[in-house]
Amino acid sequence: MHLIPTPRKIEIKSGFYYFEEKPEIKKEIKHSFLTDEGYRLTIDENGVLIEGGSEKGVYYGEITLKQLMHNYRGLLPYIYISDEPEFSYRGFMIDSSRHFFTVEEIKKMIDACAVFKFNKFHFHLTDDQGFRFEMKEYPLLTEIGSKRRASEFSREENDDEEYAYFYTKDELKEIVEYCHERYIEVIPEFDIPGHTTSLIAAYPEISCKGENIETKTKGGIFPDILCVGNPETEKVIHAVIDEMCEIFTDKYFHIGGDEAPKGRWVDCPKCRAKKDELGFKNFQELQGWLMNEVSDYLKSKGKTAICWNDALKGGNISSDNTMVSLWYERNNNSINWANAGNKLIVECNTPLYADYPYAVNSLEKIYKFKPKKLKGLTEVGSNSVIGIESPIWTEHVKNFKELAFMCFPRWFAVAEIAWTGGENKEYKSFLETTKFFCDILREMKIPTAPKSEWLGTPQKKFSQLLNYGKRMITPESVSEFLRIQKNEITGGDE
Ligand code: ACM
Ligand code: ZN
Repeated sequence: MHLIPTPRKIEIKSGFYYFEEKPEIKKEIKHSFLTDEGYRLTIDENGVLIEGGSEKGVYYGEITLKQLMHNYRGLLPYIYISDEPEFSYRGFMIDSSRHFFTVEEIKKMIDACAVFKFNKFHFHLTDDQGFRFEMKEYPLLTEIGSKRRASEFSREENDDEEYAYFYTKDELKEIVEYCHERYIEVIPEFDIPGHTTSLIAAYPEISCKGENIETKTKGGIFPDILCVGNPETEKVIHAVIDEMCEIFTDKYFHIGGDEAPKGRWVDCPKCRAKKDELGFKNFQELQGWLMNEVSDYLKSKGKTAICWNDALKGGNISSDNTMVSLWYERNNNSINWANAGNKLIVECNTPLYADYPYAVNSLEKIYKFKPKKLKGLTEVGSNSVIGIESPIWTEHVKNFKELAFMCFPRWFAVAEIAWTGGENKEYKSFLETTKFFCDILREMKIPTAPKSEWLGTPQKKFSQLLNYGKRMITPESVSEFLRIQKNEITGGDE
């Protein structure tokens, strides 16, 4: 039987329930003994009974039933399933800044993720290469920030056409509603203080140098970041949060915090004065302070902030209202954060980044990943892992077909560990189940990578790695790497 994610307990009984067009379904809410997302599904001679800990639990029971109906068309085996997720946070992230995806395309991704019981959609809406949110106050964020002169992410393609896209508020409301109908919460990301070239292109005065710069046409880590010593910067940040919170009504709000080189702050009289006024030893602490300020602002709106683990470098992120998403680090900040009992979302770039080639983050590697067993986690730390998320960054993902191709079937395995916790031992049968669900996605008009890509021969893996290397190792990326090593970009504060 093919089910993803695998339910905790399945008992197949003898006998079959036959139905004409649709099975008879009785639904009940039993919060007294089922968890919010937990459900029990019973099929016997009386038909189908779904009991859920809440409406959400009932919904997950219905999803399992749908999957069973794909397995057994026209009849259902007598069965008892009792199920609940290990993790309350089961996320997928889409970057619409580097390449834009239409509302219909985003909805297709949501449709696919709903099949596998994901419950968090993290929407990366702002970055150096495009600000994709319609702003009323500070309208240039959209008018200028949503446009770039070209898209030159790889050496082979030099596309000289202007790239200009954003989502209107109505479109985003539609996406949020679509998610809510599938019990998926939406988490917008407004990435600060780095990855903000598109904001600075619109309002240069909120950067340290105040100079005109253009929205970026290539990937990378860029030196111009928001000036934290300028009171106008806070006004812009609050305005964006205010308008985003009107649309994104769920609890969490991602404020980025990754890859923010401090070179400009080091050279900026206003930022230096702010650091001294607050009595900080270094500029990482100043970033921590900024994240805390923004988190407090979100708290006043009833929201909880999430930031990338880079923001922990200053050692002063307040755990009061902030959760951390771990993507990559060379030290143990996130592990220590979790071991101190603070909430952590695991998004480790290996194996969870869906933009890496299948040869790097293979289906098998994801399937066998154990988020609660990261090196250094104590028992408290393990229990602080509230879930996992798989991001897809889209510098090199140009259209919907490529997006779906990179995510599916990999996100099947992400969903599996997000629900079961990841002590998976049946990889061979999971492969069969993967093929089964690839067919279902194709019926839904959602492309999946061909088997030759995710079950690649050594030659196939070699060619994936070669292509990846060609895209990532460019003269610019090598010189950027060398400048970071020499602290020319970071101002010695990384
Ligand atoms: C990240 O990949 N910069 C979060
Ligand atoms: Zn400054």
